Amino acid sequence: MTLKLSRRLLDVVERDKRVFPRGASLKYYPLVVESARNWLIRDVESREYIDFVSGAVVYPIGHLHEEVVSAIRNQLEKYMGYPVIYFYAEEPVELAEKLINITPGNFEKKVFFGFSGSDAVEMAILISRAARRAKYIVSFHDSFHGSLYMTLSASGVFDEEVKKAVLAYDGVIFIPYPNPYRNPYGVDGYEKPVELSNLVLGDLEKVLSSRRTEVSLVLFEPIQGDGGIVIPPEYFVRELRRLCDEHNVLLVDDEVKTGVGRTGKWWGIEHNSVAPDLLVAGKGLGGGMPISAVIGRADVMDSYPEVGFAYTLSGHALSAVAALATLRVIERENLVERARELGDYILKHLREMSERYEIIGDVRGRGLLIGVEVVRDRARKIPDKSPALKIVWRAWEKGLVLLTVGRHGNVIRITPPLNTPREVVDKALEIIEESIRDVIEGHVPDTVLTYMKGW
Ligand SMILES: Cc1ncc(COP(=O)(O)O)c(C=O)c1O
Repeated sequence: MTLKLSRRLLDVVERDKRVFPRGASLKYYPLVVESARNWLIRDVESREYIDFVSGAVVYPIGHLHEEVVSAIRNQLEKYMGYPVIYFYAEEPVELAEKLINITPGNFEKKVFFGFSGSDAVEMAILISRAARRAKYIVSFHDSFHGSLYMTLSASGVFDEEVKKAVLAYDGVIFIPYPNPYRNPYGVDGYEKPVELSNLVLGDLEKVLSSRRTEVSLVLFEPIQGDGGIVIPPEYFVRELRRLCDEHNVLLVDDEVKTGVGRTGKWWGIEHNSVAPDLLVAGKGLGGGMPISAVIGRADVMDSYPEVGFAYTLSGHALSAVAALATLRVIERENLVERARELGDYILKHLREMSERYEIIGDVRGRGLLIGVEVVRDRARKIPDKSPALKIVWRAWEKGLVLLTVGRHGNVIRITPPLNTPREVVDKALEIIEESIRDVIEGHVPDTVLTYMKGW
């Protein structure tokens, strides 16, 4: 039986529709949050849910972690923040030092602070263009880098209509991402990772050779997130680095989703033993507070012209102390290692499920960034969004918060807080399996889809 929606939930849905433009809404189901703590969310009707979304990968150590809360509280006893573009403050300096220490690259680094993934990637693009004085950005099909001008233009996941509507920047060249499961070359990249890599690298080489000195940067997600949790072959990432060096093009590593321990290393690109020129962090960095950062080669960062960046609230002390507390907890509680172990555990169970249910076409992930791709015909891999949405709806009814991502909106994304206890994970896995079964058996009506948009 599908839950009957209360008047209160429906009322919020209606009011939300009236005040928020349609372009700013990717809603799934009417979860109206009342409070959240650790890995649990409570809605306004006092129902409790396990959070396998982490507020869109924003809470690596769960909601309201007491160390983050007390760092914010202590800071509020002193001052909230004061503009570091004009004056000095210890908190953002300490955070920048910490980030420099934990990002890959045996070279001198500097840091810019922003508030969201979008503004930090935007900044990384501007810095790269200033450093190379070159117009073009190379990005990947199905990538997502943000919702500002350059980042929207450089995101492959948006439909052409969106790009046309905002007159997107015309200096972005898109190439395929080395997606082992589905790619335009028709190569099985799990079986033949080097062949797939070489095809994409060949496309990139063509762009870099023909544009010569006109390309500033390659903008790269070490795991495509909203494109569907896609993990590129290791060989590809190493060769990408080599090709960028060969053509004097900067490698910008967008770790907004993959960073802060989520994949079982501090940063996703560390799985490939590659150091980017600029690394972008956001989302989970502030443990729920808005903060993002570009951490990069000092010479590149310093090539940005003087007084070209005057972001008033950059390096805000409240967000800086929350980020420092978050990183401290991750380190002390070995949560990077735990993300790897728990991720392997979840992957194993999901792979077992995929043997039982034909609609699971692929299960993939690294650490606690996991995707389950739902398809109609396993051999032909036809993406199937509706059952994916219905599974997510059913899981919500049963007390688990999930969402879907991917070019075709058919990949269920699993991203719990890194410190979620094993028994909570087991309960969530049970709900996922029951929800898959309910959808296959036709117990979730099409009417639920009228509420759901998703990617
Ligand atoms: C890889 C990546 N880059 C950039 C962004 C944009 O971040 P924000 O929404 O915080 O601006 C996102 C958000 O999902 C992301 O996943």
